[in-house]
Amino acid sequence: MPIRHFTAHNFRCLENIELDADREYNLICGPNASGKTSVLEALAYLGRGKSFRGAATTDLIRHGEQEFVLFGQVEAGERQAKVGVRNSHEGLEVHVDGEVDGGAAALAAVLPLQIIDPDVHNLVGGAPEQRRRYLDWIAFHVEPGFLDAWRRFRRALKQRNAALKSGAAVATIDGWNAGFVEFAGRIDRGRRQALEIVTRGLEEAGQDLVGSEVGFVYQQGWNEDKALLKALEDSMERDLQQGSTQCGPHRADLKLMYDSRRARKLVSRGQQKLLACAMILAATATAQTALERPLLLLLDDPAAELDSDGLQRLMHRVVNLGCQVVATSLETELRFFPEAATVFHVEHGDLKRIG
Ligand SMILES: Nc1ncnc2c1ncn2[C@@H]1O[C@H](COP(=O)(O)OP(=O)(O)OP(=O)(O)O)[C@@H](O)[C@H]1O
Ligand SMILES: [Mg+2]
Repeated sequence: MPIRHFTAHNFRCLENIELDADREYNLICGPNASGKTSVLEALAYLGRGKSFRGAATTDLIRHGEQEFVLFGQVEAGERQAKVGVRNSHEGLEVHVDGEVDGGAAALAAVLPLQIIDPDVHNLVGGAPEQRRRYLDWIAFHVEPGFLDAWRRFRRALKQRNAALKSGAAVATIDGWNAGFVEFAGRIDRGRRQALEIVTRGLEEAGQDLVGSEVGFVYQQGWNEDKALLKALEDSMERDLQQGSTQCGPHRADLKLMYDSRRARKLVSRGQQKLLACAMILAATATAQTALERPLLLLLDDPAAELDSDGLQRLMHRVVNLGCQVVATSLETELRFFPEAATVFHVEHGDLKRIG
């Protein structure tokens, strides 16, 4: 049971809400614009330190207020943790058991979660960055040193790009290459290991959700036939022209294949949604196994874009995953969701338990 007790203050339309979550299934229902997605967004913010809708802090703070505050009692395996987040125009403040400064990574470690929302199909059809983030999330939970490698790589990339932009001498830019290559290699290895584990789950989930063979093709971000150092040397002219490093793990992509063809180009919106759900459920299962505890899964209007058969397949798989689920629905029930779910009603930003 990842989250037990949750409160949100001045987050979007939610002035003050309190949610005592069921350890398995929770349903938040209410009419349009009542605050359902806002509740999920607040929960997700507590585990990520950012909005899954890509919203800026100013848009998240309730109109006319100065800050929002979120708090959760979380079960992280054997450990009980108190997690708090405050965000104002002065910036984000994170507390985990009274400790400050851990930032978003501390939140992600204590409250790991995944989200399926009506835009989830973008994971398949959208830009590579989303799929890199997807893969890095798995690697973060599966590979203990991944976060450190990732932070160091970001720093090396920033420094190399700054040198390229400032028109520094080639020798100066080359000076950044050794660190860049070392951390890039660690990221690439971490990603490949994560991919190996998640692929098994993806194949199974894909078969179950779309009845086809589904797999990943990983592109590391530079020519597979070249060592990264050589690729960097060869692209120096292009890097100087562009003022940024053109090859490396920040250019990686993870292509989703559907019956041996690129899913992005082929499948319908509903199929893209089911494929993206297969990716997310496989990632959730992978992290749950690695962490040996249930994760939080947020489902925002899961019925959107899906026919009855698709929704049934999705919900069946969700229920068998063994995670804690918080789902939203316009109605007081959600088809194929367990009847034993705890039900909350939200209206004008006010949340009440009704069943
Ligand atoms: N910063 C804010 N302060 C106050 N209200 C806000 C803020 N941001 C958004 N809102 C309002 O919150 C309301 C609830 O939005 P939300 O997206 O949570 O609704 P919903 O119940 O998910 O609706 P739908 O069924 O259409 O998906 C909307 O009316 C929106 O305009
Ligand atoms: Mg909504």
